[in-house]
Amino acid sequence: MCPPEYFTVEYAINPWMDTATPVDRELAVKQWHGLREALLGLGHTVHELAPEAGLPDMVYAANGALVVDGTVYGARFRHPQRTPEAAAHRSFHEARGARFVAPAEINEGEGDFTYLPEAHGGLILAGYGFRTEPAAHAEAQEVLGRPVVSLRLVDPRFYHLDTALAPLDDGNIVYFPEAFSVAAQRVLAQLFPDAIRADEVDAFAFGLNLVSDGRHVVLNSEASGMAAKVAAAGYLPVPVELSELKKGGGSIKCCVAELRD
Ligand code: ARG
Repeated sequence: MCPPEYFTVEYAINPWMDTATPVDRELAVKQWHGLREALLGLGHTVHELAPEAGLPDMVYAANGALVVDGTVYGARFRHPQRTPEAAAHRSFHEARGARFVAPAEINEGEGDFTYLPEAHGGLILAGYGFRTEPAAHAEAQEVLGRPVVSLRLVDPRFYHLDTALAPLDDGNIVYFPEAFSVAAQRVLAQLFPDAIRADEVDAFAFGLNLVSDGRHVVLNSEASGMAAKVAAAGYLPVPVELSELKKGGGSIKCCVAELRD
């Protein structure tokens, strides 16, 4: 995680960002600490990436890489405003001795990639259409040696895979079907017949942008409908307030890069 010390909305690269809306950075920092405390309280280890002035989106740490079984496939950001963030993530992973592979193709890490170790023997799901290039899906498969399933995103408000789909455990997902092309919806229905389906209200509340450890589902407190759905499926929702970071177009999952060590 990377604290939102320099968080602001000074450019708009997704439909949620409005440079005319003021940001309460103090509140953002306070809420971010609440998320960190919630994860620590659940027994997780949280490493911190040092924030850098002039990189207001660094708080969305999930976009910096994808880690599968100790191999780190680095990010290459779509927008020049975020380009320098990739190097910070690279240094972080190299400093902890991980095997880092620099990408040739544009991809935004866990923003558009997720990994389910127990789905069909280990599957990477990958979004494209707005940020990550399909060529990066093939590259990730070469680097990580897991099948990558390409899913086309069709709604600009759900511009990253992690705004529309999340693993609930090692083998199952929750997703908002309408964010995907009709063909991608078919693929998801075939691969995940037991998935939870979210609705538009859940998606707009950033309810899909969640982090689950297989039992506890950490999601933002606005997403009460999503919390009820995961509770009905037997998971324990852990609501956390993170409203200020919605102004940048992100929520819980965006703030958490999973190391999967
Ligand atoms: N302002 C950031 C961007 O548009 C938000 C990133 C949100 N992160 C995420 N994992 N969806 O790139």
